[in-house]
Amino acid sequence: MNNKAQNLAEDLLNFIQVSPTAFHAVLEIERRLLQNGFAKLDERSKWTLSPGKKYYVVRNNSSLAAFTQGRKNVRDCGFKIIGAHTDSPALKIKNEGASVKGSLLRMSVEPYGGAIYSTWLDRNLSIAGRIVIESGKGDFESRFIDLKDPIAIIPNQAIHMNREMNKGVEYNKQNHLQAVFSGVSSDDKDEPSVLFKKLICQKVTLDPEKIVDMELYLYDVQSGLINGMNDEFISSGRIDNLSMCHSICEAITSNPEIDETSVAVFFDNEEVGSKTLQGADSSFLKDLLDRITFVSGGTLEDTYRSRALSFAISADGAHAHHPNYAESHDPAYTPVVNGGPVIKISSTYRYSTTSETAPVFKKLCRDVSVPYQELINRSDVPSGSTIGTITSSLTGIKSVDVGSPMLAMHSIRETTGVLDHFYMTEVLKRFYSCDLNRN
Ligand code: CO
Repeated sequence: MNNKAQNLAEDLLNFIQVSPTAFHAVLEIERRLLQNGFAKLDERSKWTLSPGKKYYVVRNNSSLAAFTQGRKNVRDCGFKIIGAHTDSPALKIKNEGASVKGSLLRMSVEPYGGAIYSTWLDRNLSIAGRIVIESGKGDFESRFIDLKDPIAIIPNQAIHMNREMNKGVEYNKQNHLQAVFSGVSSDDKDEPSVLFKKLICQKVTLDPEKIVDMELYLYDVQSGLINGMNDEFISSGRIDNLSMCHSICEAITSNPEIDETSVAVFFDNEEVGSKTLQGADSSFLKDLLDRITFVSGGTLEDTYRSRALSFAISADGAHAHHPNYAESHDPAYTPVVNGGPVIKISSTYRYSTTSETAPVFKKLCRDVSVPYQELINRSDVPSGSTIGTITSSLTGIKSVDVGSPMLAMHSIRETTGVLDHFYMTEVLKRFYSCDLNRN
């Protein structure tokens, strides 16, 4: 296994470790961008852009778009865009959902996205998210917390109480996913939800009186790690889709050529349909692209021209062939872990790939001697969706859907290849540094 690939995998694990929620992922991407000379823009302010300079903008603290302002006018060459999503399936805490039963303080949760629930049980869980506090003079301020310590658990039922358990358990989301936080003593006189808020505030030294709202999520405290006899696998939570966020972040900070304008966009809320203020099905990307065109002196017609000349890569995890469930795959399309980036294709266009856009990605792979694979689902298995088709239909930009092959997608612990992550990062770097041959 080459050293560069190992180092990159270690860096991905660090990236995931400090990104328990989409908010934290954006903070980490922001930190890396600032380190590499990117300047922050505010959507509410007037922008001035200089060719050769690098910028980023944030929405809702959970989506971010970064770009390098090219020397050529975008109406003549368009944008080179890569997108991924910052969110992952999780269990979101209901702030007023605390109850005490059998002397245990429990919080009810609401699933966010399509998690495999069974993988969340008997795990050491912590809490991270956004707390909004009153900062005086009627203003609100967002704080981002990560308790880091294991402070909660969702215990399974004992097999003695359900001898049929190994035939598969259907967990009731309201009753069976409640997380146990603490024992309660007879001295605790507070309402359960007040008690919960106080326990959180103790951990982050905040005054509970000042809290006006919270968006908190459970996450697994166990760090990701490299696995396999030859150190070939990456095993971690949130590989979908923080691995692609990490690759894109590496690519956009690796000094892309500056004639053309490169854009990296990280959307929240892909796992719940993308139709939010900051999701892929919002104005975020289109607003950004058109604003760059206008601020660069372009007209309304130039916005259409620049988008028609652009190309987008939508990067999201892809299902690798699972040898224990071989029957779930089309035998002609069996991408394997460590076999390189996967181009995702669907007749119903759940993926944005077309016979015109796939060859562009294949050429990028060949340019940097990276193998690629293709994926079409079994005809009787519907595919998931990605941000690719949404951004493509909203902006009129050609797009290809790709991703690194992975196992156990949406488990609390997913597996991908060390080489896959390296390969994908090399191809994305190549995209930003090439002069796209547009016809
Ligand atoms: Co995904």
